Amino acid sequence: MKRRNFLKNSGVATAGVLSTPFLTSCKANEEEKKSILKGHTETIKPIVICTWDFHNASAKAWEVLSSGASALDAVEQGVKVEEDDVNNQSVGRGGRPDRDGRVTLDACIMDKDGNCGAVLAMQHIANPISVARKVMEDTPHVMLAGKGAEQFAYEKGFEKMDLLTEQSKKEWLEWKKTSRYEPIINIENHDTIGMLAIDKNGNIAGGCTTSGMAYKMAGRVGDSPIIGAGLFVDNEVGGATATGVGEEVVRTVGSFLIVELMRQGKSPQEACEEGIRRIIAKNKGKLDFQIGFIAINKKGETGGYCIHPGFTYRTYSGKGHDNNPSKSFLKP
Ligand code: GLY
Repeated sequence: MKRRNFLKNSGVATAGVLSTPFLTSCKANEEEKKSILKGHTETIKPIVICTWDFHNASAKAWEVLSSGASALDAVEQGVKVEEDDVNNQSVGRGGRPDRDGRVTLDACIMDKDGNCGAVLAMQHIANPISVARKVMEDTPHVMLAGKGAEQFAYEKGFEKMDLLTEQSKKEWLEWKKTSRYEPIINIENHDTIGMLAIDKNGNIAGGCTTSGMAYKMAGRVGDSPIIGAGLFVDNEVGGATATGVGEEVVRTVGSFLIVELMRQGKSPQEACEEGIRRIIAKNKGKLDFQIGFIAINKKGETGGYCIHPGFTYRTYSGKGHDNNPSKSFLKP
């Protein structure tokens, strides 16, 4: 394809993505060069963002990015911090169990080349994100579920452990007295961690990990390990990830939708807002659940949007480290 047509046709051929050496090395005429450079904005990289106020996770990911490692390493190491934190009762060890008292974990990971891996409803393994990465790198498959995922993890050297902590067990026994299943908006003020990073080379990766809805039915899987729903990355465009009631995110393939909206020219903020609007439209006014989306584009611009006030997301780059209150469809 001629360069002029490539620039016209490519959704990512924005000035912010193209480097000045690229412009001088090719045979663009002066008019073309001027028009490309006019909208030039500096690409923010490296950068990491994650759902909720997961300070330690984003700090870890930033440390990995700062060492020059890949976005893939950064998201894996970053979200692992929350998987290992037993005080976080919505991710990894210490997560709240299903209604039968079993902690079952879901996670997925996606790299710059569109490779991805996921584990679903896996028990006894503390770091599902790392097992998901092994699925991606060491198998011809994308998803492993239940016993198969667990068996694969043991084969890869992961340790078997009891994921149900005393605290989560105590709360579950209390819940069993009434057994009322009511997902709570902004439960404990956080749930799933979804993380997106751009490394020094400008490559994007993402990871998402959760113990799912507390006291869910045995075998229930939400959006978090479903590529396109809880997470999606396209290295030419950007990435998106979700938190909240997974069923609603799956029904609209939320993260894929947001990346496609960015491909069509929306900013990360506009794309997240449209993602939430689609869910609201499908629910015909019933809004007694929370969803939060975050997104990043190839330039390192970020956005976040949710249904109910209370969702926040972390951004960490050379420009600073912030916990950003997300705009919401329903006003405080
Ligand atoms: N977003 C987490 C879940 O629904 O399982």
